[in-house]
Amino acid sequence: MPPTLMSRVTGVDLSAMRESYAGGDSILDPADATGGWLPLFERWLAEAIEADVPEPNAMVLATVAPGPDGGLRPATRTVLCKGVDASGVVFYTNYDSFKGRALDANPVAAVTFPWIAMHRQVHFAGTVARVTAAETVEYWAQRPRGSQLGAWASEQSEPIASRAELAHRFAAAEVRFGGAPSDGAVPVPPHWGGYRIVPDTVEFWQGQANRVHDRVRMTAPGFAPVRLQP
Ligand SMILES: Cc1cc2nc3c(=O)[nH]c(=O)nc-3n(C[C@H](O)[C@H](O)[C@H](O)COP(=O)(O)O)c2cc1C
Repeated sequence: MPPTLMSRVTGVDLSAMRESYAGGDSILDPADATGGWLPLFERWLAEAIEADVPEPNAMVLATVAPGPDGGLRPATRTVLCKGVDASGVVFYTNYDSFKGRALDANPVAAVTFPWIAMHRQVHFAGTVARVTAAETVEYWAQRPRGSQLGAWASEQSEPIASRAELAHRFAAAEVRFGGAPSDGAVPVPPHWGGYRIVPDTVEFWQGQANRVHDRVRMTAPGFAPVRLQP
């Protein structure tokens, strides 16, 4: 007997959950992207901010790395987009983290901005390169001091015995860099910095009624917008 598909969670039937997506005035047309992907992305991001979408710059980042069987295995996690321009999409992380090691070994990635409340998503896929040290320093300088100390305290993606040990590591970083009242400057950790995803594919998706959604994909080198079936 195959196991029964578990579709009820606290009395809610997952298989019956569905939203009707109606873009209303938000019809997405390839003509919207004739100026390139950047102006359309900037407009959609601005609209997500305006609509109070939670963490509108959050994006789900996919990387690939060898799995236990030696074959490539995808992994995803959320990161925050900290900059976007014609050269690509930038985020910051620990270079020694799982994703950092995956990106250094296989410098390709995909990200999705899931603006679910707006029935929209945008995907980027492309190659990845570390940003310059100068870019990292510039961004680091605007991070709150607590976040800076946290970056020193955490060996991201490594096991740790307890939350208390993590707190101990944070306290040690505070002592190392001079806590209040001196509040000494916290330098950028050598294992921390940015990556830029240089897209070769950008896809815009706008939900519409009856699952007849709008998709527009743009691919390098010309990034000519093409409508795809949903
Ligand atoms: C909303 C949100 C934003 C996040 N932003 C970042 C980020 O900008 N950089 C980062 O390294 N981790 C961020 N994280 C944590 C990552 O999702 C992930 O847990 C962490 O980077 C370790 O991933 P890894 O072990 O795959 O390298 C964020 C998590 C959430 C939920």
